[in-house]
Amino acid sequence: MESIKVFAPATVANVSCGFDVLGFAVEQPGDELVLRKSNSNRIEIVEITGDNGKLPRNPTENTATVAIQKFLEKLEISQGLEVSLYKKMPLGSGMGSSAASAVAGVFAVNKLLGEPLSVAELLPFAMEGERIACGAAHADNVAPSLYGGLVLIRSYEPLDVVRVPMPKDLFCVLMHPHIHIRTEDARAILKRQVPMQKAIQQSGNLAGLILGFTQSDYGLISRSMQDVIVEPVRSILIPGFHAIKKAALENGALGFSISGSGPSMFALCKGKEIADRVGEVMKSSLESLEIDSEIFISEVNLDGPKVI
Ligand code: HSE
Repeated sequence: MESIKVFAPATVANVSCGFDVLGFAVEQPGDELVLRKSNSNRIEIVEITGDNGKLPRNPTENTATVAIQKFLEKLEISQGLEVSLYKKMPLGSGMGSSAASAVAGVFAVNKLLGEPLSVAELLPFAMEGERIACGAAHADNVAPSLYGGLVLIRSYEPLDVVRVPMPKDLFCVLMHPHIHIRTEDARAILKRQVPMQKAIQQSGNLAGLILGFTQSDYGLISRSMQDVIVEPVRSILIPGFHAIKKAALENGALGFSISGSGPSMFALCKGKEIADRVGEVMKSSLESLEIDSEIFISEVNLDGPKVI
């Protein structure tokens, strides 16, 4: 095989109370990447579209090529490669844009070179791509983009990643308001210390949420989708956050929070009909503030990246 084209999905990280430890993949949007063998011994970025010229073209600074480079170094493979990256989702949106590119890169190079590694073994390379993009190698976007489904990062050192079952009829309403928040900035404003009382509340909610997903207990999912540590701080960066959340919950969403580091927001809903209604009220709440947005409604993506 001389070239390959792949898709890697966007993700919702944190899932309310699981800061840096929980995330799930969605069906759309996602990034596409084409990888071609070349006769040079370098990785070259030949094309990036959909980024308004904002992403680095230098392979040592781009999340996709850094992930590919780390993979080649680890396997001691010297193979020239040409990369074309087609961004199909907004940057700095909180939908795991950099993670999708990193996952697309490592997934593609592994396939192109005859799958020397398992999907699980690709995770550390994708995390290195994430580190270049936002200064922290958090895995709650790259792991679900790579594995598909809902993923818990039980531990970072050593890395211990577990897929969590989810009910089949859960739909995610993902809304991207047209404002920009850098992940680095959204991480920098977080408090360094957490009061014991908040840690207890958050632990209860996270345990309840995992149990709710595993047992398809919608009431438990709904009661547990409360982030008492991160959302109260970050929500001040998102105009209309509380009004949009109220509208979503009043119209049947099981839970609502910030997607990753924002500004995107997401609601989880039981069934497509409720998701469509919640999507409409979320969009109109934001329109009243004269902020444009895009809405993506999809089931959880259980497959992760794929060859297209
Ligand atoms: N867990 C990360 C954060 C995800 O919230 O900063 C970034 O998309």
